[in-house]
Amino acid sequence: MKNQKPQIDFPTETIEEGEVRIIVPKLSAFVEKPSEYAPSKAPVFYNPVMELNRDLAVLAIQAYQKMVKRELFICEPLAGCGVRGIRFAKEVKGVRKVVINDINEKAYQLAKYNVQMNRLEKRVTVKNEDANLLLARHSAPRKRFDVIDIDPFGSPVPFLDSAIRAIKDGGLLALTATDMAPLCGVHPKACIRKYGGKPLRTEYCHELAVRLLIGCLATTAAKHEMGIKVLFSHSTNHYIRVYAVLAHGAKNADKSLQNMGYILHCFYCLYRETINKNAAFGHGCKCPYCCSKMDFAGPLWLGNIADKKFCVLMEREAKKRKLRLETRIRKILTMIKDECSAPTTYYVLDKICSKIGMPTPSVKILTEFLKEKGFKVSSTHFNPKGIKSNASIREIEAIVRQMAV
Ligand SMILES: C[S@@+](CC[C@H](N)C(=O)[O-])C[C@H]1O[C@@H](n2cnc3c(N)ncnc32)[C@H](O)[C@@H]1O
Ligand SMILES: [Zn+2]
Repeated sequence: MKNQKPQIDFPTETIEEGEVRIIVPKLSAFVEKPSEYAPSKAPVFYNPVMELNRDLAVLAIQAYQKMVKRELFICEPLAGCGVRGIRFAKEVKGVRKVVINDINEKAYQLAKYNVQMNRLEKRVTVKNEDANLLLARHSAPRKRFDVIDIDPFGSPVPFLDSAIRAIKDGGLLALTATDMAPLCGVHPKACIRKYGGKPLRTEYCHELAVRLLIGCLATTAAKHEMGIKVLFSHSTNHYIRVYAVLAHGAKNADKSLQNMGYILHCFYCLYRETINKNAAFGHGCKCPYCCSKMDFAGPLWLGNIADKKFCVLMEREAKKRKLRLETRIRKILTMIKDECSAPTTYYVLDKICSKIGMPTPSVKILTEFLKEKGFKVSSTHFNPKGIKSNASIREIEAIVRQMAV
């Protein structure tokens, strides 16, 4: 069938990403000032900065496919111009079918054309309806998806219930959240409303954001008698991303809820502590180091936020491909793999050193010092100046002081 030109009444351009060629809005035509955020000005959404997010999604879904060894039925219910879903169909081996959808008529037209341009009409279906309606129509057992990728404007929460209902037992759910102001504690009330947990404006707020999103997923899944296992998550650019497998059954739900809890933080001395949801706040929220009143974040997810074996599978897939962002991707994967088993929260050297009035050492040198003293240390993808360690804030401060002598 000959490609039918879509009814596009706005400037476009052709781009290449991964292994696909896509027509997207010509972003430069939609901004009047350089400070304007072009993707949200264009009539159809496309954000080139999200290439990294999409690359990692391709790797994660391929790793998942290798893990489950079956053909995948994938849904991308908030697709914009369709680049993500089209990449899944083209770049992930073992994909039977992809359903992409957008409520915006122009996005639908453009995505349809992009599917034709990549000759994927037989395996990619394009829909034009509300994401929750589409997902609800796929909630019956035989209609469910193996993978659902929710990549919305802002928060994925409005789509969580219907995505959870539309996923097969053992299926993979991927979530993006770009509403970092609530999740990082700038708008705490909005975070409590949307995610059901209190955020905290600490130096490790990006990790808290990931844990709040996973916590929200775990509690929402539990309502549907499902448990979760987190395979991968990352915080990059202006967003966070989580990949989790959902397992049916009340026992699985109960088990994953055991990972919910709180993080107590002392803003005065930077002491922090995790606390299981069912345990009482033993010391009345007083910092055991300096006796200041501590603040808290949560309830949130205290379990693993990535799985080492899954990171290795993703690394293998990355090696097989020629991705434009290969160097950055490899670095992120190595770091996340190494911090999988590290303690919850991280220390940021600048923050510690400005508190004690010492020059900031390099992460590498401090890491060596801490290891020499027998502590476990890893860097963290959350922050280039961050370290995860079983050393306490007092022990780290003591070593920083020693280093300056
Ligand atoms: C961030 S964009 C998606 C970007 C895309 N996933 C990608 O990787 O390029 C979010 C999209 O969701 C669409 N959208 C918003 N609300 C929706 C709804 N209720 N149902 C379906 N689509 C919706 C918007 O039109 C927009 O295209
Ligand atoms: Zn304290």
